[in-house]
Amino acid sequence: MGYKHLKFPENSKFLVTGGAGFIGSNLCEAILNLGYKVRCLDDLSTGKQANVDMFLDNPNYEFIKGDIKDLDTCLKACEGVDYVLNQAAWGSVPRSLEMPIFYCKNNIEGTLNMLEAARQKGVKKFVYASSSSVYGDEPNLPKREGREGNLLSPYALTKRCDEEWAKLYTMHYGLDTYGMRYFNVFGRRQDPNGAYAAVIPKFIKQLLNNEQPTINGDGKQSRDFTYVENVIEANLKACLAPHEAAGNAFNIAYGGREYLIDIYYTLTKSLNKNIEPNFGPDRKGDIKHSNADISKAKDLLGYDPDYNFARGLEEAIEWYKNNL
Ligand SMILES: NC(=O)c1ccc[n+]([C@@H]2O[C@H](COP(=O)([O-])OP(=O)(O)OC[C@H]3O[C@@H](n4cnc5c(N)ncnc54)[C@H](O)[C@@H]3O)[C@@H](O)[C@H]2O)c1
Repeated sequence: MGYKHLKFPENSKFLVTGGAGFIGSNLCEAILNLGYKVRCLDDLSTGKQANVDMFLDNPNYEFIKGDIKDLDTCLKACEGVDYVLNQAAWGSVPRSLEMPIFYCKNNIEGTLNMLEAARQKGVKKFVYASSSSVYGDEPNLPKREGREGNLLSPYALTKRCDEEWAKLYTMHYGLDTYGMRYFNVFGRRQDPNGAYAAVIPKFIKQLLNNEQPTINGDGKQSRDFTYVENVIEANLKACLAPHEAAGNAFNIAYGGREYLIDIYYTLTKSLNKNIEPNFGPDRKGDIKHSNADISKAKDLLGYDPDYNFARGLEEAIEWYKNNL
């Protein structure tokens, strides 16, 4: 259960790309807490300087401000590194529909540079962020690896391409790669601001400010919301996974199903706010329901998530109350 008991060889060094972002900064923190070294590579395009500053006093932490679109930067960042956790990318389905060429360059070429740098520098394991969006319009639930549909957005295409590149790097160059198909991650430090903010931090912030949140669609859409602690566990366990499990992508979720409208009223209740939501139009490129079969990650990575949705949400609300 969890990841706090995991042991890596002494002096192990991790590289977290996108380490100034939500998931990346949580990965950096967990690795430092376990006592290992971590280098963060981030161009601060969507990440925050504060997510770097909080670790700068720790001698095991190092920050490189740089862009994964630049191969030389990736090569320097991979120097002396055992494990790469590649999180750097731009998220958001709607934004990717507005700027497809940038997404291709940033999310595909960037990850390809990181794969190439990891190969050249002899990195042991390359774990990377994919996304549940690769299931596209596949209607069956739960989502199962190997049963994908037509892609619905440029963002989803970038993640699918990353998976294919990673598979080739395992097949031809012997680099052990493990794709993490995250399902709607939430938790501390997820950005509540901006037009493309994720729904849980956005609603919490709006409710705390006594604003009226807008639900896109009827609120009856469902997602497998996944607490960030489970995501940390999956990444670290993938670093310790056997070679036989490499070249694969895995659903990383809790395996539950939460309806947006229920989440909304859970939030109003726990924040003690008597505010009804607005209802807006459906978002383009979105699917109605998504939940994951996590048996592949359980079987091949030993993933065994500790946090169900309710427990994760409670911790997240507490964090936002104290940090907004
Ligand atoms: N949060 C989720 O629910 C979710 C779901 C599925 C997949 N993902 C994926 O997980 C990863 C992390 O997402 P997040 O939610 O923490 O997002 P985030 O925006 O908080 O973090 C991404 C980080 O990557 C950095 N970055 C982006 N492009 C870069 C580049 N070219 N070079 C260097 N750094 C760059 C950003 O500055 C940011 O700090 C992403 O790959 C995302 O696509 C997230």
